Amino acid sequence: KPYIVIMAGGIGSRFWPYSRHEKPKQFLDILGTGRTLLQMTFDRFLNITDVDRFFVVTNKKYEHLVREQLPEIPETQILSEPLRRNTAACIAYASYKIAKKDSQAQVVVTPADHLILKESNFIQKIKQSLSAAEIENHLITIGIKPNRPETGYGYIQYIVNEKAEAKKVKTFTEKPNAKLAKTFLESGDFVWNSGMFAWHVKSIIHAFEKFMPEVAEIFEEGNTYYDTEKEEAYINKAYTLVKNVSIDYGIMEKSDQVYVILGDFGWSDLGSWMSLHELQPKDKGNNVVEANALLYDTENSYIKVNSDKLVVVQGLNNYLINESDNVLLICKLDAEKKFREFVIDAKSKG
Ligand code: GDD
Ligand code: MG
Repeated sequence: KPYIVIMAGGIGSRFWPYSRHEKPKQFLDILGTGRTLLQMTFDRFLNITDVDRFFVVTNKKYEHLVREQLPEIPETQILSEPLRRNTAACIAYASYKIAKKDSQAQVVVTPADHLILKESNFIQKIKQSLSAAEIENHLITIGIKPNRPETGYGYIQYIVNEKAEAKKVKTFTEKPNAKLAKTFLESGDFVWNSGMFAWHVKSIIHAFEKFMPEVAEIFEEGNTYYDTEKEEAYINKAYTLVKNVSIDYGIMEKSDQVYVILGDFGWSDLGSWMSLHELQPKDKGNNVVEANALLYDTENSYIKVNSDKLVVVQGLNNYLINESDNVLLICKLDAEKKFREFVIDAKSKG
């Protein structure tokens, strides 16, 4: 049975103010199902492996949230990062830990903040990915058919081959600019990188040694300390030394051993208010209303207020109104690109 590495240390600033630095989106019950995105990720993978094979990698700041939300997972399987160093460090840390336990391990790496609608289809694709990952040094990613020139994703161009389940990747481009994204979409042989990966622990370690040797060296040296009382001190030091690079830039763009399995399981990265708006039930005016609200001449908007305050709205089209704790945000529903700025500026206002 495979090991599952859940990456749950990102900050998800595009859902601000609903999702905050103190509680990023993976820890929220964003869809109102009673389970948070992290819990839903865990539930999904429980179908293919056992609790003792999960590793959740998160920031020290969020460790208590992981413990609270996944009490089933033993504390030794929650890996805590002292600094945010992006996904390459996160994956390297978990991989070396797993390799120390089981050098023959198969591993699936997954984000913690996605929505997957067709679960049985998903499980089948994960199993296919794992069998494709049996070949030495192959790195398998799961690709999703794109429907818009999104610039926040990785794009995978693959060699069209009807017979092969895992298709050889020709190019991997992380977060292209708008012009490139449009070309990719139109070209037809590109898929989005879902951010889910399957490989043998040996294969990914080999890739780290080849493409990020400094990272490999640091976490390899950690072998002396893992699962001892000195692990934390070593990791604290290690994280000050590793570069802040995602796995996509650090390895996936560079390796020529990447293969893609095409997935069609109702995937959404829930990356923005717009994508959440698409998924949620809407009223006649195409509004998502999660508030005690009166709406007049209002369309295509998202109104979410975390209190029982009555909200009266008139004349809006394509707007977001979100009140969470002490912040009230009113902006265009598609203002995605502005969010980084909002968060930074809001900090200076206290
Ligand atoms: N432990 C840990 N530490 N987890 C992290 C860190 C970190 O420093 N940084 C990010 N993560 C987690 C996030 O919580 C999320 O679950 C996952 O890793 C992916 O990180 P994001 O920051 O959300 O990446 P992205 O959305 O910009 O891009 C990735 O996902 C896209 C699909 O959603 C890339 O893999 C793209 O290629 C891909 O298309
Ligand atoms: Mg993401």
